[in-house]
Amino acid sequence: MAGPKDKLADKMEFPPATPQPNIYPLSWESETKKMEEIWEAAQREYWDPEKLPWDTLDVSKYSWEERECIAYWWTLLSVFDASAPPVFASAMIKTYEAHEEDAVRKCFFSVTRDEHNHEQACRIAIQKLLEHDNVLTYEPKTEIGKKAQKNAHWLYYNGGRYWDGYKQAVPRYSLAVLFSSFLMGEIASSTIFHQMARGCEEPVFKEVFSKIGRDEGRHMAICMSLMERDYPGLAGEDRSTITKQIRAGYLFLSAILFEPPEDFWDLPKDFIPTQREIESIARKAGFFIPEYEAKKENWRNAILNLKGVLDKYDIPFPAIPEVGITGEEIRDVDMEDIIPVF
Ligand SMILES: [Fe+2]
Ligand SMILES: [Fe+2]
Repeated sequence: MAGPKDKLADKMEFPPATPQPNIYPLSWESETKKMEEIWEAAQREYWDPEKLPWDTLDVSKYSWEERECIAYWWTLLSVFDASAPPVFASAMIKTYEAHEEDAVRKCFFSVTRDEHNHEQACRIAIQKLLEHDNVLTYEPKTEIGKKAQKNAHWLYYNGGRYWDGYKQAVPRYSLAVLFSSFLMGEIASSTIFHQMARGCEEPVFKEVFSKIGRDEGRHMAICMSLMERDYPGLAGEDRSTITKQIRAGYLFLSAILFEPPEDFWDLPKDFIPTQREIESIARKAGFFIPEYEAKKENWRNAILNLKGVLDKYDIPFPAIPEVGITGEEIRDVDMEDIIPVF
């Protein structure tokens, strides 16, 4: 630390230049008009999960089996949405470090805030259904509840493996690379939430899903406008990283949007049969979850949309044979390689 003797202010009229980039830009330039519009929409569309009509949810009309199965789906969602606030908070810090334009900083702030809302909606749904705060310490009341909890433990274990990788990836990659992975999550999640909102019978769940779906649509628009701005001048090595990230994103997000691929997710043999059983109980109770073929079709469409976007910028697309998409073959994707988001 410089002592009082070394005070620069006694020696010069203006301080020396601050090494750049520093964390606070002290400037609010805004060039990407589309991002300003998205931010304004985010302000208008802000919602408070606590203020939704939760009092209309009478959990006693469901059996304990149904409650535990519906709570399982919220748990599955939490594996993705509970990591989204820190994931986007880190990305937001990066927008400040990089002295991104004001509109970009604001948009990443709004995504962080939205994702926190999504996590909170999961919390409230789970607390109501299970009457307990922690899915891992909850004492299941039924056989299917026990199986669901075992699955939850494995999901939690797998989801916990990527944070270190992500922390290393954030400083290493440009925002352009980071938001290609984000886009994957946003395209996929806006699709699923709109479907669930349409199909779900419980009014408050319907409302949560349509609000989350609207948020995810905005997040997708943020990624798209950043791509329009940055992708025309993208470096060659960034292009191949993006191709790899898309494959990684597919593997990661399949756990919620389709079914977790065995070569990537470390899960017991009975995981998928259990999950199918749970989903069918939840479905019969009016909690809409798409069936296997419908999930596959949705996922394929979301990926084709993404491919359409990347093709415009000549970014090679990875092969995704699981849903019948040909492309560049990407092997050996590791949990450490992924930049996951939802
Ligand atoms: Fe989300
Ligand atoms: Fe999102």
